[in-house]
Parts: sequence; C-alpha cells; structure tokens
Amino acid sequence: MLNDIKEVLIPREKIAEMCAELGKQMSKDYEGKNPLLVCILKGSVVAFSDIYREMTTHCQMDFMCASSYGVGTETSGVVRIVKDLDTDIEGRDVIIVEDIIDSGVTLSYLLKVLKSRNPNSLEICTLLSKPARRKVDVPIKYKGIDIPDEFVVGYGLDYAEKYRNLKDICILKPEVYQK
Ligand code: IMP
Ligand code: MG
Repeated sequence: MLNDIKEVLIPREKIAEMCAELGKQMSKDYEGKNPLLVCILKGSVVAFSDIYREMTTHCQMDFMCASSYGVGTETSGVVRIVKDLDTDIEGRDVIIVEDIIDSGVTLSYLLKVLKSRNPNSLEICTLLSKPARRKVDVPIKYKGIDIPDEFVVGYGLDYAEKYRNLKDICILKPEVYQK
C-alpha cells in the first residue's frame, strides 16, 4: 500500500491541528446548544471521530451514507441515500461533517433533504475543500483547508475503497489509476 503513494499532502500533525481548530470554533459557536453532528459515511468517519472529540460542549452524533461516486475519481452526478439518520432533526441544530467537498453535488443534495426536515439550524463543516472543482455552490461555515485539484486518499478517503487507513492525506502515483 505505501508503495502506491507519490507524496504526503497533509501530514497527520497538521490534520490534528485542523481538527482541533474546527472543534474549537464549533464548541464556541454551539455552547449550550447540544448540536447534532452528522457524519457522512464512509469517508468522513475518521475525520468525524477526531473532530467530534475536539468538541468541549454537549453534542450528539448520527450517521448518514450517501453515494455519488462509482469506483473512479469523477462524480457520477447521481446521489443516493444509502443510510438515513436515526434522529429526528426537527428544531435541532445540525452540523454536517464532511471529509471533502469536491463538486459539491453530494452535499447540495443532502442539504436540500435535511432542510426539508425543518432543523433549527443547518451548517457545514468540512476538513478539505477543492474549490477549483466546484459545480454547485455550497455554504461552508467551518473549513479545515483548501486543497489543489488532486485526487487524495487516506485519513478516511478512498480510491476504490482502498487507502482509507492511511494516517496522512496523500497523493497517489498516477500509475495506480492507470492500472
Ligand atoms: P462531491 O459530490 O463531488 O462534492 O463529492 C464528494 C465526495 O466525493 C466525498 O465525500 C468523497 O467521498 C468523494 N471525493 C471527492 N474528492 C475526493 C478525493 O480527492 N479523494 C477521495 N474521495 C473524494
Ligand atoms: Mg468516497
């Protein structure tokens, strides 16, 4: 697995700093509010568990799984809810926690679905954003960092369901895609 990596884009120490900063900002903004943090499976699970533990106020967790990608690196444009929330979000303060926002297609669909359930508030937190690839504008309230237009893996992010267990956010060697 490690032989497939071209370079480390964001090392684990930097990721930890980003998660701490996101948790600090959200803890301040949601003091006394008991927000529901929504983890978008599967990619976000690693970032979610770190960001969630940086929260210093009461907060709850729930999970949702949407699928827009096949096994390649381009969005199919079609979003499907594979697993829905267990929690009733009417009147709740909800924060969607994403690993990465690329075209924005997945998230704009999820925003529409969750808004229709009448939460008190709905905000987006993402560890990574690729602004150069955006097709649909999504209002990001909490952002770790902008990254260039490169396909990244690790720290939850996959290529064909692999590399999620890498501790750093990495760029793959081009020959891995061409194989
Ligand atoms: P979007 O709908 O194009 O914004 O795609 C969002 C989803 O695509 C993310 O939650 C990821 O699962 C996946 N994705 C987008 N870019 C990357 C990447 O560089 N590496 C791995 N997965 C990615
Ligand atoms: Mg994915």
